[in-house]
Amino acid sequence: MQKGLLDLHNLIRWIILILLVINILKNYMDIKKPFAKIHKKLGLWLMICAHTTLLVGLILLGFQWVNLPSNINVMTNPAYRFIFVEHPVGMIIAIILITIGKGSAKKNISDIKKHKRSANLYLIALIIIMASIPWNAPMIPGM
Ligand code: HEM
Ligand code: HEM
Repeated sequence: MQKGLLDLHNLIRWIILILLVINILKNYMDIKKPFAKIHKKLGLWLMICAHTTLLVGLILLGFQWVNLPSNINVMTNPAYRFIFVEHPVGMIIAIILITIGKGSAKKNISDIKKHKRSANLYLIALIIIMASIPWNAPMIPGM
């Protein structure tokens, strides 16, 4: 089960990265157009993927925690610090930014502001996610 979840978590990264780029470009390109159904839909798909990977990530973290050797100091061991601190903290911040970005569609603000706020927050999230992905892990599960 753990392997299946890790593979799922690995694969969703690509969907999130692609959806982030599409959302950012679409919001910037349509900045002078009304905030329409398509912008809401794209944001919703991004949210679903981001929250699913958050849930899967939390479960994986639980597995890692249960199997943690007792003689390990998480903060002084770079590999464990990455798994338990740097990766989750970075990703949770990014997912919060995505959630706030998506939420701006419901705010009582102008359509230009909705486009700008979502695009800017998604862009910061994209940078944090790129910096927090363990790029030494397989690019695609099994490869
Ligand atoms: C650890 C698990 C999760 C946490 C802590 C979490 C937390 C949240 C929070 C705080 C919001 C924002 C509510 C708001 O103010 O609008 C939200 C919205 C949402 N979540 Fe999650 N979520 C989790 C798992 C999931 C999963 C597994 C999915 C999808 C399969 C999901 C899909 C969504 C969607 C679609 C929305 C946005 C609804 C909307 O704005 O239209 N979440 N979630
Ligand atoms: C956008 C959000 C995220 C992305 C793109 C992402 C991406 C990744 C990738 C590519 C891997 C390596 C998978 C592999 O080895 O095949 C990984 C591993 C992992 N991630 Fe995430 N992650 C995200 C969010 C999270 C969150 C929020 C948590 C925890 C709260 C988390 C916990 C973990 C854990 C525990 C591992 C396993 C490390 C290991 O077993 O070596 N991830 N993540």
